[in-house]
Amino acid sequence: MIVTEADRLPAMNMEIKSQDKTTAKAGSQIPPERPLLQVKDVTLQYKTKDHLVTATYCVSFDTYAADRFILLGPSGCGKSTLLKGVAGFMKPANGQIELNGKPVRGPGPERMMVFQEFDQLLPWKTVKQNVMFPLITGGGMSRAEATDQAMDYVNKVGLTKFADAYPHMLSGGMKQRVAIARAMAMEPAILLMDEPFAALDALTRRRMQEELLQLWDDVRFTVLFVTHSIEEALIIGNRILVLSPHPGQVKAELNSGDLGIGSIGGEQFQALHNHIHEMLFADRVEEIEDDDR
Ligand SMILES: Nc1ncnc2c1ncn2[C@@H]1O[C@H](COP(=O)(O)OP(=O)(O)OP(=O)(O)O)[C@@H](O)[C@H]1O
Ligand SMILES: [Mg+2]
Repeated sequence: MIVTEADRLPAMNMEIKSQDKTTAKAGSQIPPERPLLQVKDVTLQYKTKDHLVTATYCVSFDTYAADRFILLGPSGCGKSTLLKGVAGFMKPANGQIELNGKPVRGPGPERMMVFQEFDQLLPWKTVKQNVMFPLITGGGMSRAEATDQAMDYVNKVGLTKFADAYPHMLSGGMKQRVAIARAMAMEPAILLMDEPFAALDALTRRRMQEELLQLWDDVRFTVLFVTHSIEEALIIGNRILVLSPHPGQVKAELNSGDLGIGSIGGEQFQALHNHIHEMLFADRVEEIEDDDR
């Protein structure tokens, strides 16, 4: 595991906007506020009949309010497992996960998840009903309150005209918008997104990335976003945790500032892209060398 202090501080000489909490961490006089989510030395394991699989080993990171925090790493490094730990679906074998200073002990409405699969909606309910469902069952809202709140978020994701459509009538991108609206309507403390755009075609994926950033500008939610695309990490994130291959360990934590879609192809974007690529590629070289021994 290689975690250099330089990697924890702003990696490149990037302009950091005032909302970026790493400004405070990087040595300014403003004391850092308390993290919203703290993942402390977390090891997550799967016990199967014959094996004990260690998915992540001793992973630590802090997420602050309004962070767009990225978990980036190769397939099998435990990104989804970490998200499951934060969601409360899995208990750490070691370490602690805390939200607002309280240990996570199980799933809760303050941590809503959006998955990669298009089939996460209830097929017998309309768009509006899908978004309303957790508001009534988990959020304790009346039908009238849930209708207003659901329509507010259906509007935010641009699906007003499709409020009464059923999932089978929607494209993959539209289904993902509904899943995002459903999670966001609960107004969770943190939104957990597991490669939500990975199964979309390139054009739709780009549009969804843009829309998510626009939503963030509008709502300023906190998101923990999993991807294995360096480009997506740089577009979406303000902070990026780079994980090593299986079992996932923290390799570096980088500050990507507010690069965004407009920065693609620019010097800063390319420099950080290459830096991360080299980090991830170094692991692959080590793996290949290990295989050859
Ligand atoms: N239910 C399970 N039972 C046993 N092992 C599992 C289970 N789910 C995941 N694993 C193992 O845990 C490790 C981490 O898996 P995980 O799905 O978290 O990786 P990932 O980083 O999300 O990968 P990907 O990018 O392919 O989605 C892998 O070695 C995987 O085989
Ligand atoms: Mg995964």
